[in-house]
Amino acid sequence: MDLEAFGWLLTEDGQQLLAAATRELENAGDDPLAAQTRLRRTAAPEHAAAAVTQATLRRRAREKFGADADRMYFTPDGLEQATRQRVAEHRAARLVAASTRTVVDLGCGIGGDLLANARAGITAAGVDLDPVRVAVAEANLAALGLPGAVMVADATTVDTSPFDVAFADPARRSARGRTFDVDDWTPPWSFVAALLSRDACVKVAPGIPHALVPAGVEAEWVSDHGEVKEAALWSGRLSTTARRATVIGVSGLATLTDEDDPGAPVRSIGQYFYEPDGAVIRAGLVTAVAAGVNGGLVDEHIAYVTSDESFRTPFARGYRVLDELPYREKQLRAALRERGVGRLTIKKRGVDVVPEQLRQRLDLHGEQEATLVLTRVAGSGTALLVAPF
Ligand SMILES: C[S@@+](CC[C@H](N)C(=O)[O-])C[C@H]1O[C@@H](n2cnc3c(N)ncnc32)[C@H](O)[C@@H]1O
Repeated sequence: MDLEAFGWLLTEDGQQLLAAATRELENAGDDPLAAQTRLRRTAAPEHAAAAVTQATLRRRAREKFGADADRMYFTPDGLEQATRQRVAEHRAARLVAASTRTVVDLGCGIGGDLLANARAGITAAGVDLDPVRVAVAEANLAALGLPGAVMVADATTVDTSPFDVAFADPARRSARGRTFDVDDWTPPWSFVAALLSRDACVKVAPGIPHALVPAGVEAEWVSDHGEVKEAALWSGRLSTTARRATVIGVSGLATLTDEDDPGAPVRSIGQYFYEPDGAVIRAGLVTAVAAGVNGGLVDEHIAYVTSDESFRTPFARGYRVLDELPYREKQLRAALRERGVGRLTIKKRGVDVVPEQLRQRLDLHGEQEATLVLTRVAGSGTALLVAPF
């Protein structure tokens, strides 16, 4: 979508066609081609295409932006790169809790973070190199009735000193696709590192090596409903600990830091088994979870926890250990068949097993459902039959 097509979409005619495209998509069972064909009876092909694309993106965006998606605007890449609303709201709440009044968003994209900050009452200004994204971010502020300013500018030339906090979410995509090399980020790591010498927050990939996090900067890993979505680096007065795991789930938000981590021993398998959330694992806080359930690790290098006590914790999924089964495939098959297991969930860590392939080889047909954990305990492969509690 170019600037002209987007500008047209915001006109009265464009808005009517977008509304029509939304209805057609619903009627056409989400088939964009069918919707476009119908719209082209009365609209120019490029306008029909722009309207149907936008309506399709809005539907796709509901997963990230909930009901707001139906009023917002997107580009395909802008949507893919945007921070999901729940995560952006958490970040904005942290900024507000740290008495932040003004934020400059250095590479605001379509405005995922910008909108959350504006809604939280922070004066939010955004820049982006891409004029279409700037126009989309501006339209999103207007569509949601939020204050804020956006302009086309190169983030690396912006004077951030008038703002309480500088925020950046560098694009982690090169012409060759997603990039894991921090020097390929735009703006690059050198810009991020310099930014972290002031009060700043930088969203980074969850796989960021701990060694890259500068001293005194807090690294926070955030998961949303069980999936690790991002890490954020907090510097200056915004840094409150070294490592933090924030878990957003059905029952709200919970956070765990390295200060909550007294360490935990390796111990034998107890009556309960815990699978820590991905944010906890990335933050290196598995021992904090183990301590929290009065338990220990199944192995020094494996992110599984065991305990003799059952705890409900937002930081791990809990299971009752039902049985230890033979680790050898033939005997394992026999044991599972004996129990009438037909549907098997396989969890594994620290062992060289491909669950899909193993499931196929086991060839189970019973009526029962079961969860099997394959891991290493005291150096030996171990199979545990567990049940969620
Ligand atoms: C990952 S996206 C930001 C997404 C945004 N936080 C959101 O939630 O919608 C990164 C953005 O940085 C922009 N960008 C990359 N280099 C830039 C630079 N030097 N100056 C300004 N913007 C830049 C890209 O155009 C892209 O829109």
